Amino acid sequence: MIVTGASRGIGAATAILAAERGYAVCVNYVRNRLRADEVVATIRKAGGRAIAIAADVAREHEILRMYETVDREFGRVDVLVNNAGVIETQARVEDVDAARLVRLFNVNVVGSFLCAREAIRRMSTKHGGTGGSIVNVSSVAARLGASGEYVDYAATKGAIDTFTVGLAREVANEGIRVNSVRPGFIYTEIHAEGGEPGRVDRIKDSLPMKRGGEAIEVARAILWLASDEASYSTGSILEVAGGR
Ligand SMILES: NC(=O)c1ccc[n+]([C@@H]2O[C@H](COP(=O)([O-])OP(=O)(O)OC[C@H]3O[C@@H](n4cnc5c(N)ncnc54)[C@H](OP(=O)(O)O)[C@@H]3O)[C@@H](O)[C@H]2O)c1
Repeated sequence: MIVTGASRGIGAATAILAAERGYAVCVNYVRNRLRADEVVATIRKAGGRAIAIAADVAREHEILRMYETVDREFGRVDVLVNNAGVIETQARVEDVDAARLVRLFNVNVVGSFLCAREAIRRMSTKHGGTGGSIVNVSSVAARLGASGEYVDYAATKGAIDTFTVGLAREVANEGIRVNSVRPGFIYTEIHAEGGEPGRVDRIKDSLPMKRGGEAIEVARAILWLASDEASYSTGSILEVAGGR
């Protein structure tokens, strides 16, 4: 299983749970080598198999290099979790510039497309593969719009939802299922990157469950969609948002 952005947050929880369930895991990251190594060490200590691979998913040649390493080390890819994602500082649309939009769309959208392309080239029965599963990490922002905070980020996740549905139908007859999860307000470091580390605590009382979510709760949904337990689900979007 390749989990992009697995050095922290939802990706790290997914990688660790995946290893517990018997997957050999590629722990992708872009900058935080120490954190990625910690995830790998946690997995190995529990008897699992994992390697950390640095690759910026906004750079095609780095994605290709990551897959070459996975081919060499693991021999095949059964699951891709397109989890790597970024936000930018909270801003209204009237204040965003082109560079910000390009950064966001390159990581969140272009990166997910290219990682999926490489997975399909290996998994598809059309290419001699044995099938597989792709789980994209969207966001409730795709549905809510994130007004006044990051409409641009929300739009990248809207693109991911459309990508999930379209790709699912494109490869449904080639042994590949494609689904996505839509997390809500989850305690990770992403909110600090948006300029508000306490964002989940600010919002939690307005949520139906009156609490934020934990990364492991999203990881469990990802693992279910990835597994044969979800064998007849493709093109579906699973909300993990405490009712919001
Ligand atoms: N937390 C939430 O409330 C929430 C809600 C809805 C959706 N999501 C989505 O869930 C996913 C994970 O979010 P999170 O909250 O767990 O984020 P996070 O804690 O900020 O972690 C982000 C991860 O993505 C990696 N990453 C960032 N840019 C990358 C790039 N260009 N190439 C490869 N890896 C990259 C980071 O690696 P480094 O450590 O090396 O920087 C890190 O492992 C994202 O797609 C996010 O949009 C989160």
